Amino acid sequence: MKEPILLEMNGIRKTFPGVVALDDVHLDLRAGEVHALLGENGAGKSTLIKVLGGIYQRDAGEIIINGEKADIQSVKDAERYGISIIHQEIVLVPEMTIADNIFLGKEAGPAANIDRAGMLKKTQELLDSFDMGLSASAKISSLNIAQQQMVEIIRATFSEAKIIVMDEPTSSLSDKEVDALFDTVRRLTAQGIGIIYISHRMSELDVIADRVSVYRDGKYVATKEVKETTVDELVTLMVGREVGNYYNRTYNECDETVLEVRGLTNKKVKNVSFSLKKGEILGFAGLVGAGRTETMRAIFGMDPVESGEILIDGKPVSIHSSKDAMAAGIGLVPESRREEGIFPAMTIKFNETVKVLNEFIHTFRVDHKKENEIADKYMHDLSVRAPGTFALVGNLSGGNQQKVVIASWLAIQPKILIMDEPTRGIDVGAKAEIYAIMNELAKNGVSIIMVSSELPEVIGMSDRVVVMRSGEISAVLDRTEADQVTIMKNAVNI
Ligand SMILES: Nc1ncnc2c1ncn2[C@@H]1O[C@H](COP(=O)(O)OP(=O)(O)OP(=O)(O)O)[C@@H](O)[C@H]1O
Ligand SMILES: [Mg+2]
Repeated sequence: MKEPILLEMNGIRKTFPGVVALDDVHLDLRAGEVHALLGENGAGKSTLIKVLGGIYQRDAGEIIINGEKADIQSVKDAERYGISIIHQEIVLVPEMTIADNIFLGKEAGPAANIDRAGMLKKTQELLDSFDMGLSASAKISSLNIAQQQMVEIIRATFSEAKIIVMDEPTSSLSDKEVDALFDTVRRLTAQGIGIIYISHRMSELDVIADRVSVYRDGKYVATKEVKETTVDELVTLMVGREVGNYYNRTYNECDETVLEVRGLTNKKVKNVSFSLKKGEILGFAGLVGAGRTETMRAIFGMDPVESGEILIDGKPVSIHSSKDAMAAGIGLVPESRREEGIFPAMTIKFNETVKVLNEFIHTFRVDHKKENEIADKYMHDLSVRAPGTFALVGNLSGGNQQKVVIASWLAIQPKILIMDEPTRGIDVGAKAEIYAIMNELAKNGVSIIMVSSELPEVIGMSDRVVVMRSGEISAVLDRTEADQVTIMKNAVNI
């Protein structure tokens, strides 16, 4: 027998100036089910969720909860209806502890009548149940993104919610953390809680979702039982066309070494040595926390280096800031793009061109033609979905913001481009576009370092794969020997 319907959203419409974000959109959710939402970047998934959560007011449509029309005008209203949302952007308070954040604004429910000691104890239990190895009294600002995301998840699940929405919860989690999350999801659905699950990782659908609804350009396309559909069918529904071969690499024969890192050591990484060739894509694999991002930050001058050497074209360079790094021809697309990569209150054009601005300012006169050319080119190349390059980046969908950050680094035309999790939060169609751009760059002699937690991507795109473990390099694999098993063996401690 089918479980009762918890939630129904019908005819939902939401517009922003110049954008119809949702047009006659439908969603229904059963008790105890995991319902996945699929759609390209900008399709309207987060907007739909924000309408449900009372963050946006809908222009039209109805929300029905347990068979009755629900009046959701604010976040508080939504909470009263038992709706709990883990947003795509992390919204924790950095200067407060994990425990404070988990209990923040939770006067009712399981959190009521708990004193400070009890609060710490309960939080510690929750953290331990996720095997997080963290202290309840640690400050949020001391955690990495994956850990913060887990705290968000724990916070949302620790409530009396009947409907829990997860907007890309796994985007920065390692496999182990994803497993822990899925265990929690199963525990919640067993209690009859309905879960709306947004993710660009198609491989997760089979594992966790019961049904899936697809959206395209702000419109509802279809709902399918996961068991009765295929990834291919879903992708076609999503993008309205078939997405061809993903990893179309043309490998370049080149022995010219562009970058050499020797014995790089600081608080987070130990004795890291490797070389990068001209036109090569060098993959960096490893578990979350293995020191990959930390290595890149050190090379890019963002973190201090205690010892070690960096050589570019055979000559030692001294890099103490990202400005030094850029002057040496290095670009870095950061992992946490929202915090480090974006001016949300500025336009797409500004964000795409800000790093190369000095190139077209001639004695106080900005060359707008050139500025527009660059902005338009990258908006097009990366298919950024927005009304135009004048749109404010803060108003773009999560994935489209990511694309703008990538564009801003492509615009400086670096000799060496470091990309940390380049396709995180990017939809299937756009992923293929980013891979094509990477391939093209490599073909033109740009050397790319790609840090990625997605093994198929590492294997599909890399000439060679560096594997890191506990702050050190554990293996450097040629593309012929870099398979999932070999990489994983070197990534974990056995
Ligand atoms: N506050 C806002 N102001 C203006 N436009 C907005 C605003 N929020 C969203 N939009 C627009 O609405 C559309 C849908 O965005 P939404 O964030 O819902 O997409 P999404 O499906 O969640 O995409 P992603 O996979 O990239 O997260 C986009 O075109 C976006 O630019
Ligand atoms: Mg979104």
